[in-house]
Amino acid sequence: MTANELRQKYLDFFKSKGHSIIPSASLVPRETDASTLFTTAGMHPLVPYLLGEEHPGGKRVADVQKCVRTGDIDDVGDNRHCTFFEMMGNWSFGDYFKDEAIAWSFEFLTDPKWLGLDPKRLYVTTFKGEGNIPRDEKAIEVWQKTFNQAGMVAEIAADDQIIKDNIRIIPLGTDDNFWIAGTTGPCGGDTEMFYDTKPEDGPLAGRFTDLVDSHRLMEIWNDVFMEFNKTADGQYIKLEKPNVDTGMGVERTLMVMNGETTVFETELFQPIFNKLSEISGKQYGESEEVKKSFRIIADHIKASAFMIADGVTPSNASRGYVLRRLLRRAMRYAKLLGIETDFTRAIAETVIAMYGHFYTELKEKETVILEELTKEEHKFRQTLENGIKEFEKIANSLPNSKISGDDAFNLYQSYGFPLEITKELARERGFEVNDDEFATELAKHQELSRTASAGMFKGGLQDTGDASKKLHTATHLTLAALRKVLGNQINQKGSNITPERLRLDFNHPDKMTAEQLAEVERLVNEAIGKDLPVSFEEMTVEEAKKKGAVGVFESKYGEKVKVYTVGQGDEIFSMEICGGPHVDRIGILGKYKIQKEESSSAGVRRIKAVLE
Ligand code: SER
Repeated sequence: MTANELRQKYLDFFKSKGHSIIPSASLVPRETDASTLFTTAGMHPLVPYLLGEEHPGGKRVADVQKCVRTGDIDDVGDNRHCTFFEMMGNWSFGDYFKDEAIAWSFEFLTDPKWLGLDPKRLYVTTFKGEGNIPRDEKAIEVWQKTFNQAGMVAEIAADDQIIKDNIRIIPLGTDDNFWIAGTTGPCGGDTEMFYDTKPEDGPLAGRFTDLVDSHRLMEIWNDVFMEFNKTADGQYIKLEKPNVDTGMGVERTLMVMNGETTVFETELFQPIFNKLSEISGKQYGESEEVKKSFRIIADHIKASAFMIADGVTPSNASRGYVLRRLLRRAMRYAKLLGIETDFTRAIAETVIAMYGHFYTELKEKETVILEELTKEEHKFRQTLENGIKEFEKIANSLPNSKISGDDAFNLYQSYGFPLEITKELARERGFEVNDDEFATELAKHQELSRTASAGMFKGGLQDTGDASKKLHTATHLTLAALRKVLGNQINQKGSNITPERLRLDFNHPDKMTAEQLAEVERLVNEAIGKDLPVSFEEMTVEEAKKKGAVGVFESKYGEKVKVYTVGQGDEIFSMEICGGPHVDRIGILGKYKIQKEESSSAGVRRIKAVLE
């Protein structure tokens, strides 16, 4: 199946169910919406109608919406995350609800006239209820009826989420099955549809989350039943009429339809990879490094072309800054592939040829897209050249062949040189770069720049600096609690903070159990409940080590570091080497909640948590 066939089938199906087909809205949200810089989900442009305004297309609409999510830009390049993606969606504005939405999802997925997927490979999650909102019995009932009509029995998983025999319905909590775009607005429980990607591996059995983690089960569609409007003060106000918002990813569905294992194997990436091969002389599969570079370049240039078509140009603020960051990241990875000549134009031409018939704005704006890309490419090349001159200067003045972390960091900060490029230049000369020292420098500066740039990425959110600071302190609490639960061998392997959430990577071979996660949450919330004070002291690395502080110990001998302590006297919860900043007392953090625990890379787990 081609992407074009998929989009057309989806729209035709919902047209046959009385929906009017509307075009994709711009990636730039309407002016009155300051909640995000870009359209991040299919429902985003439709929020006013989900809150009761009348849609000119009537009460049932369907579309394919282009979306951009830049939240976890560092994740792009793994086998799942993309910045640009397309969402197919059907909406009911106070019209049909769970019965029709679920029945139609099932029909579209399994009827041979439409996608013809095997119903026996289909599994669904539903909202299990939390707080004042009860378990979604209705969704369960409709699913059971729907499966029954297809001659199947669909039983419900217990709290252990174990799938065996006839179990097909897995009730999950707020983190998995309650949908809201950002922090306020229309929201509700949802039901997600998963497809077994490897039936040849035998009957599906095991814990649902493990099956998803291992990619045996792939999410393909999400039906959200919007019943509430969450207000800024955290209240859920029941909507006058409930709505349906569904989201089905084009890339993923295409992958499933064609039996591929990653979205990068689909025709939404392959032509770009072929072009990149032509330009670089490298093959996509030749090494993990090349794969990663291809993925990043393809995703970022694609996203950039769409952004420029919607009127964004590279700059140092707001959307323009996100665009510039994406382009420069793509160019850095192109450099790693050995590409030294202009390439963005050729890639963008490929993107326009792939998508231009559906998203006609790409064709209309072709000249502008190509010009803007080339202009930015030349600008960045100049920066890179200046950086190379600086590198030569540094290298020529060294008494030995060792580039310090300080110097590497300065190249990074002043010339945008990622460590890989500095290392590559060093390698060419037979020099070495001190990686650990670079990492320490980077970690020290990251908090500040994250806090400063946070405001740039998210319009409309106040106090992003404060939010980041709280989450930073919560990151320390997370690490301390993990060590208490899993043992002192646990160390931080990486961290990233946005105004909405913290992310912590740590060494641990196994998936954490629900009990372990609950215990981490409990310990952190208990500490917050005690409103422990936060203080810091400067000392040498050796002193910090002796005191039992955790953190990066690779600083130079005798160098002073800051050690942040949460707690005092007999009650020390956490002690960590860190540049700060942190809150003064942790009582203001509010309620700590782990949203996700997943694999990050071999032997490294990743936790995402929020403060509510
Ligand atoms: N809003 C939901 C999502 O983005 C369904 O469209 O997943």
